[in-house]
Amino acid sequence: MNEGFRAACVIGWPAGHSRSPLIHNYWIRQHGLTAEYRREAVPPEKFAEFIGSWADSGYVGANVTLPHKEAALALSQPDDRSEAVGAANTLWLEGGTLRSTNTDVEGFIENLDAAAPGWDSGLRNAIVLGAGGAARAVVFALLQRGAGRVIVANRTFDKAEAFRARFGERVHPVRWNEVGGLLADAQLLANATSLGMAGQPELDIDVSGLPPQAVATDIVYVPLETPLLAAARKRGLRTADGLGMLLHQAVPGFEKWFGVRPEVTAELRDLVLRHIAGR
Ligand code: ATR
Repeated sequence: MNEGFRAACVIGWPAGHSRSPLIHNYWIRQHGLTAEYRREAVPPEKFAEFIGSWADSGYVGANVTLPHKEAALALSQPDDRSEAVGAANTLWLEGGTLRSTNTDVEGFIENLDAAAPGWDSGLRNAIVLGAGGAARAVVFALLQRGAGRVIVANRTFDKAEAFRARFGERVHPVRWNEVGGLLADAQLLANATSLGMAGQPELDIDVSGLPPQAVATDIVYVPLETPLLAAARKRGLRTADGLGMLLHQAVPGFEKWFGVRPEVTAELRDLVLRHIAGR
């Protein structure tokens, strides 16, 4: 192996869908590093073994995707983010210890900071749609950023209620059909469900109820402009798209593994967009 060569990878089952190799190899080229970012398809029953011998294979770090995010948390020493979210998506070695974080938390915030500066000033009420894994990262991020109340609406109400138990009394679980009546006093609306994604049902929320200074954001990035974001833009609201979150969540992993903080550039956005479009 070359002197100074470093490798990182995405571990998934399957691993073929991940956009992480495209993103990290772009930054590796941009910074002229002697490094490579690979895909590792590892079945669930082999994950612990793979992680156990992972450093010996020359890896300095990894992203973890479905279905390994909970196992990655259990097998590592988590930071406050992966601990709070209950899932890890990024691993690295620190003095021989396997550490983990959940970079969706930072990706969500940094994307809003970049696309809608000042979005968090006077943030009394944020509405989060969804109560799955992605929503846990979004809710934790909003609480950390100082949101007064985070209203969580989910098709399955019990899962929204569990968010209050997990994250405390600033979280207000509501039923899906209550969202319409809460929009007028919301400063942020975040979709953390798969609704609006290509091939999935539409999101039945009418953004015309939001005040003019509200910001709308979506974790879905295929299509890039989801019906939610299109409707919000048409109303003149500021928006932050899911592709921005995907790119910003990749930044902290790269920085931990390779010691350089990479930038989310227009060129990188175009590269990933062309890839999604199959060009
Ligand atoms: P992820 O890890 O991406 O968050 P997940 O944990 O499976 O994935 O969560 C998916 C989210 O999308 C959930 O909030 C889910 O609602 P339920 O908890 O009621 O299942 C929501 N979702 C998915 N399909 C939906 C649909 N057709 N209508 C309403 N909500 C839906």
